[in-house]
Amino acid sequence: MGKIIAWLNPKGGAGKTTSCVNVARVVQLLGYSVVILDTDPQASALCWRRAGGEESVQPEVIHHPHNDVHLIAEKLAKDNDFVFIDGAAVARDITISGILAASNPDNPGLILVPFGTGSVDAWGSFHLLEFIQKRRSEGAPVNAFMFLSRQHPQENRQKDSANAAKELGSAFDIPIMKNMITRFMDYEDSQGMGCSVIELNKRGKAAEQVQGFTQEIMEIMV
Ligand SMILES: Nc1ncnc2c1ncn2[C@@H]1O[C@H](COP(=O)(O)OP(=O)(O)OP(=O)(O)O)[C@@H](O)[C@H]1O
Ligand SMILES: [Mg+2]
Repeated sequence: MGKIIAWLNPKGGAGKTTSCVNVARVVQLLGYSVVILDTDPQASALCWRRAGGEESVQPEVIHHPHNDVHLIAEKLAKDNDFVFIDGAAVARDITISGILAASNPDNPGLILVPFGTGSVDAWGSFHLLEFIQKRRSEGAPVNAFMFLSRQHPQENRQKDSANAAKELGSAFDIPIMKNMITRFMDYEDSQGMGCSVIELNKRGKAAEQVQGFTQEIMEIMV
């Protein structure tokens, strides 16, 4: 049975799709089979994949913006090492279904919550963390982490978001990943090219970053 990783945050533009698509490619390059389940009605992950054309080496994307994400994810996990769920913005039921998918007692997965740069991000993430807490109180195996995304590349400019994430995370007993995703043009440019930052610029800082980030996820999953 493959592992399910849900990238969730109802806050729009938090960095779900960018991190999900890039990490999916790195995991694939590590030799695993990966499929992305795009639950966003806007179909960003699917469009990203299509932008790469027929030659694309990106993991396959299945678009399913409905409330039974957990059922589809379970089916996909039978044939793939990893199922990555790209969450939707402001879609309560789809997000809850994503939480269910990643906290199945028969196949515990991982929930990753990208956290941006300010108070609006904290407010936007609050209900998600409440849903996660509720799922945990039901006795489900919830392995959830927050991570800083879309951060200013300079360390001294990351402090405020790091503190806000830490405060929010500790209120819900959700740790923060050591690695983060900072703002690099490579992440934006790779979208239009329909590839990951690895294909775009193998020796770039974004490529290096996403590989370190993926390594931490793999360590968490073991
Ligand atoms: N690390 C980054 N560096 C530069 N640009 C980024 C980065 N992360 C995200 N972006 C840009 O920010 C925008 C929002 O990112 P993304 O689509 O990944 O967020 P999302 O959480 O999936 O949004 P939605 O809620 O709409 O699905 C995109 O235009 C993307 O190119
Ligand atoms: Mg998205």
